[in-house]
Amino acid sequence: MRKILVTGGAGFIGSNFVQMVLSEHPDNLIVNLDKLTYAGNLKNLAEFMEHPNHKFIKGDICDGPLVEKLIDEYQLDTIINFAAESHVDRSITEPKLFIETNVTGTLALLEAARDKNLERFIQISTDEVYGSLGSEGKFTEQTPVSPNSPYSACKAGADHLVQAFGRTWGVRYNITRCSNNYGPYQFPEKLIPLMINNALNDKELPVYGDGLYVRDWLYVNDHCTAVWQVLQKAPPGEIYNIGGCNEKANLEVINQILDRLGKPKSLIKYVADRPGHDRRYAIDARKIITELEWRPVVSFEEGIIKTIDWYVQNQPWLDNVVSGEYQKYYESMYKDR
Ligand code: NAD
Ligand code: TYD
Repeated sequence: MRKILVTGGAGFIGSNFVQMVLSEHPDNLIVNLDKLTYAGNLKNLAEFMEHPNHKFIKGDICDGPLVEKLIDEYQLDTIINFAAESHVDRSITEPKLFIETNVTGTLALLEAARDKNLERFIQISTDEVYGSLGSEGKFTEQTPVSPNSPYSACKAGADHLVQAFGRTWGVRYNITRCSNNYGPYQFPEKLIPLMINNALNDKELPVYGDGLYVRDWLYVNDHCTAVWQVLQKAPPGEIYNIGGCNEKANLEVINQILDRLGKPKSLIKYVADRPGHDRRYAIDARKIITELEWRPVVSFEEGIIKTIDWYVQNQPWLDNVVSGEYQKYYESMYKDR
């Protein structure tokens, strides 16, 4: 049995992970520390708030004394750090906030892991730290880190800190670098849920640039099982790429969404490109597949249908997150594009 501090467990991937652990490995304790920013939502965890092995704490990962207090109080042995500012477009308008949570916050967690001699620290990173690919090749764990956006630069900085704490103080860590996740509970600022929400409301679908940017889509449950395997099996000090083997151009994804929802292609609107937009990401996941016996089991064709249907069936969840602040965000991000 593990006693785990999960940070960011009210966000998209974190809440799917908490749900998976409490459903499939319910003898593990999860203390869930989340600041509940715009991206954190306790409705994601509605069925699990009273679970005896789930304690939710509203708080900031930058608050070192709070983190140390939680470790002592619950005798925690592991940190899995999902908490982050996670959206590239927001990092272009507000980079400082990204330094604060993604770098300073990770530092506070590492100091706690070191001082309390935790068994393991798992940093949830991203393939975006590797930068952008041309039409050929894939990222391996040996690919040099070369981030292009403020978001990926902060995630890369955090990864370097994690490795430095391993080397300098012997913190037992793993870093996972996954490709783009999709699935239930994703905030509709990211491509797939934003396009689903707009299409459902017959609003224009804003496609950046030529729409031929490529991402390697990973169904969120497959990501969660990969992180679990890392926790169970990985030797300390190892980095693992996690990918879905589902490379798609953005327009292909958008067309699948329109087809499933029976909406016209005329909703597509080409808009100004994202500055510094990475052309293509693709993951070589052979290391985790061979060494930890993990593999993605959800194909893109299956996962995208499950995802679209989830949003259609959970309209109250969607209505709740797109009310209020979201309207202001959408207006400021897309009005003059
Ligand atoms: P998200 O934005 O949906 O959720 C982030 C969560 O962190 C929210 O619940 C938020 O309230 C919380 N949070 C933010 N700042 C905090 C702070 N200072 N203290 C405590 N909690 C804080 O993000 P996500 O998509 O679930 O991503 C989770 C992790 O996975 C991130 O580290 C991200 O970089 C990484 N990642 C995501 C993707 C993806 O496709 N979504 C891909 C690769 C890597
Ligand atoms: P996003 O979901 O923001 O993930 P990331 O940039 O971290 O990979 O974007 C995925 C792709 O979709 C990326 O190429 C940018 C593009 N995109 C659009 O074309 N329109 C949009 O409104 C958004 C949010 C993204």
